[in-house]
Amino acid sequence: MTLYLRLGGRPAIEAAVSSLLRRLREDSLFAGQPHSPLRTCPREGLTEFLVYIFAGSPTYEGRALGEAHGGLFLDTPRYDRFVDHLVSIFSNDGTNARIAIEARYVLERVRPFVLNSPQVIEA
Ligand code: HEM
Repeated sequence: MTLYLRLGGRPAIEAAVSSLLRRLREDSLFAGQPHSPLRTCPREGLTEFLVYIFAGSPTYEGRALGEAHGGLFLDTPRYDRFVDHLVSIFSNDGTNARIAIEARYVLERVRPFVLNSPQVIEA
């Protein structure tokens, strides 16, 4: 069975995005910012993108990630935290180790685009 189906498909990703945004907003790494960019992080766009990268859709028609995150000053610790929360949600706090490893692998490939350094992948 594919990772997407083992995750639980679109309904599970929609639920995961809700949990993720809640966890990130409560996270001191983000909560300390007076104008946290998470307030405007679009739930639908993020859901569509995750469905796409986890192979539940052949296309993603939203904005390019570099463009969407330009000027937000995201850095490695914040990206790591985002991934840690999402992997924890998907893997039931690490109980499902296989899902944790596979989901982390998928999210790792997106890192250079969110942090605006795609040359890392092209190299
Ligand atoms: C690490 C912390 C992150 C923060 C604070 C953040 C915040 C934001 C914000 C504020 C926007 C809206 C930008 C705008 O419309 O001008 C946005 C868009 C978006 N973000 Fe993030 N983001 C983060 C990480 C990520 C990651 C890791 C992914 C993908 C795995 C992601 C996927 C997206 C997508 C797909 C959009 C565009 C959605 C659309 O335009 O429909 N974000 N994000």
